[in-house]
Amino acid sequence: MIKLDNIDVIFNDNHNQTLHAVNEVSLSVNKGEIFGIVGYSGAGKSTLVRVINLLQKPNFGNVMVDGQNLLNLSPSQLRQARKKIGMIFQHFNLMNSRTVYGNVLYPLRDSSLSSHEKAQKIAQLLELVGLADKRDFYPAQLSGGQKQRVAIARALANDPHVLLCDEATSALDPKTTQSILKLLKELNQRLNLTIVLITHEMQVVKEICHRVAVMEHGKVVEQNDIVSIFSHPAQRLTQDFIRTASNIEQAYDAIFNHPQLAAQLKHQNLFELRFAGNNHFQPFISQLYAKYHVETTILYSHLEIIQHQPVGHLIVILHGSDPAMVDAESFLNQHNIAVSRLNALQNDNYYSI
Ligand SMILES: Nc1ncnc2c1ncn2[C@@H]1O[C@H](COP(=O)(O)OP(=O)(O)OP(=O)(O)O)[C@@H](O)[C@H]1O
Ligand SMILES: [Mg+2]
Repeated sequence: MIKLDNIDVIFNDNHNQTLHAVNEVSLSVNKGEIFGIVGYSGAGKSTLVRVINLLQKPNFGNVMVDGQNLLNLSPSQLRQARKKIGMIFQHFNLMNSRTVYGNVLYPLRDSSLSSHEKAQKIAQLLELVGLADKRDFYPAQLSGGQKQRVAIARALANDPHVLLCDEATSALDPKTTQSILKLLKELNQRLNLTIVLITHEMQVVKEICHRVAVMEHGKVVEQNDIVSIFSHPAQRLTQDFIRTASNIEQAYDAIFNHPQLAAQLKHQNLFELRFAGNNHFQPFISQLYAKYHVETTILYSHLEIIQHQPVGHLIVILHGSDPAMVDAESFLNQHNIAVSRLNALQNDNYYSI
């Protein structure tokens, strides 16, 4: 549905310095998929997503959407192609002087529909986003969540195949965020709408995305399906993001901020274990002992369901002879359990891979 090939976006600042905002990024998004892009501020997420509708022209690379290379289109063809790519933003970008109806009507201004058909279309859209009763309200009379619903209705006015969401829930409270994410999920399923969703919150990704790309300094450093990302993150940055979206962050704080516990753990072999799928409910901890005489002490364990799959997380102390420990690690790896050794307390940093 969307295929970005080797995209570069380079900005020149006032001092004639160049900034590689997007650096050799390639990714593809399948039809009907919800694809997340996460990264810290300045990573290049917004710039990359603006490339998808050519609001930002890349310095290099190809942009395919719906089978068309957007860079080869004439201005009028590009206008048509853009109608099939809706976009919503963190601050909604509604026109304050127009009612809800007027805002949703705006993208239909040069459509071939009759006034009656437009009115019908808008009524359907407002029904779809749950705002049928707010038709004649002005944006100032709406809550943040309601404003985002108007923005979604407006973005869907021309029946797009793709919806780009740039931090669409970042200005909303957690409950409203949930309701907007639920709406996006419904739209994805009911309309087979392909969604690209930028966020800096892994929690949002966990709720609705099928796949995710992690960006840093203009590059995609990792991309994978959501269960693999949460169970087997390859990059340190991805691990950091995941920790913010799970209780494991609090578990670490509780363990390592406790003076006695932290002191006791100083000379222990601490590990974080992660796994996904249903085939892990075998007693691998007792097997570590039976096979290698490696003893396991569980400091923390957590299981959650992501995209209908169990994803488990443990913080453990493993105790055994050096060769046994090597065998134990490879046993866990063979069983698709990701093992991260934690260098706790040596440099006050327990975030190691
Ligand atoms: N029009 C521009 N001119 C010059 N530099 C720009 C321009 N737009 C973005 N940048 C720079 O490009 C880099 C990437 O910006 P971008 O807005 O894509 O990041 P982001 O990941 O969306 O960040 P945030 O999470 O804060 O929205 C930043 O360093 C930014 O300052
Ligand atoms: Mg941004």
